[in-house]
Amino acid sequence: MKYFLDSAKMDEIRYAYETFGIDGVTTNPRHIMLSGKPFLTAITDIANWIAAEGLEGYEKFPVSVEINPHIDNAEEMIAEAEKISAMSSNFVIKIPATEAGVTAARKLEQRGIRTNVTLIFSAAQAILPAKNGSKFVSPFIGWKEANGEDCKEYIRNIVEIYKNYGFYGKTEIICAAIRTPKQIADCAVAGADIVTTGLEVYKDSMKHAYTTQGIGTFVNAWDNTATE
Ligand code: E4P
Repeated sequence: MKYFLDSAKMDEIRYAYETFGIDGVTTNPRHIMLSGKPFLTAITDIANWIAAEGLEGYEKFPVSVEINPHIDNAEEMIAEAEKISAMSSNFVIKIPATEAGVTAARKLEQRGIRTNVTLIFSAAQAILPAKNGSKFVSPFIGWKEANGEDCKEYIRNIVEIYKNYGFYGKTEIICAAIRTPKQIADCAVAGADIVTTGLEVYKDSMKHAYTTQGIGTFVNAWDNTATE
C-alpha cells in the first residue's frame, strides 16, 4: 500500500519524505490556502523540490494538483489542466467527479495527461473514471464517516468492481480525507492501493499506548539488571 501526504506545505512534504518515505503528494485548494502561498508559487515550490530530489516523473512520485474549482465546463477544465500539467512531469490533474469533470478527464487521458478524479462519494462514481483510464480515483472517507457512515463496505465495493472488470491496479484507488489510523487499516483491509492523509494521522498511526507502556517495562528491567 502506498502512502501519500495530503498537504501543500513544503516543511511537511520534506519531513514525511525523509522520515517515513511517502510515495506521493495530494493537494487541494484548501491545502494550497493552508500553505499560505499563492497557488502557482505553492505548486512551483513542490516541483522544484521534486527536481532537487531527483524524483521527476509521475510514475516515481505523483503530485495531485486540483484545477480551479470555479470551472464547471469540460473545455475550460482541459485548458487549465494542460497549463498545470506543463509545469511538471509529476503533476497529476485532480478533477471533480462531475459530468464535466469525467468528460475532461477522459480527454486529458487520451492526450497523455494523467488524472485523479476526486470528490467521489459512491461506488458508482468510481466506475466511469476507471473505464476512461484515469490514473487515480479519490473516494473520500473522513467526510462520509463524520456523517455516521461506515466506509469499509464502500471501499470493498470499489475494489471488487475494479477486480471484476480489470481496472484494479490500472486506476489506483486513493482513499482520501483519512482522519484516523483505523481508517488507514480499514482501507488496507479492503484492498485500496493508496491512502492520503496529513502528517499527524501518519504520526498517530505509529503510536500505541501498550508500545509506550512496554518501553517503560523494559527500561525498568534494563535498569534493574545485574551489572557485569
Ligand atoms: C484528497 O486527495 C484530498 O485532498 C483530501 O483528502 C481532502 O480532504 P480534506 O478534508 O483533508 O481536505
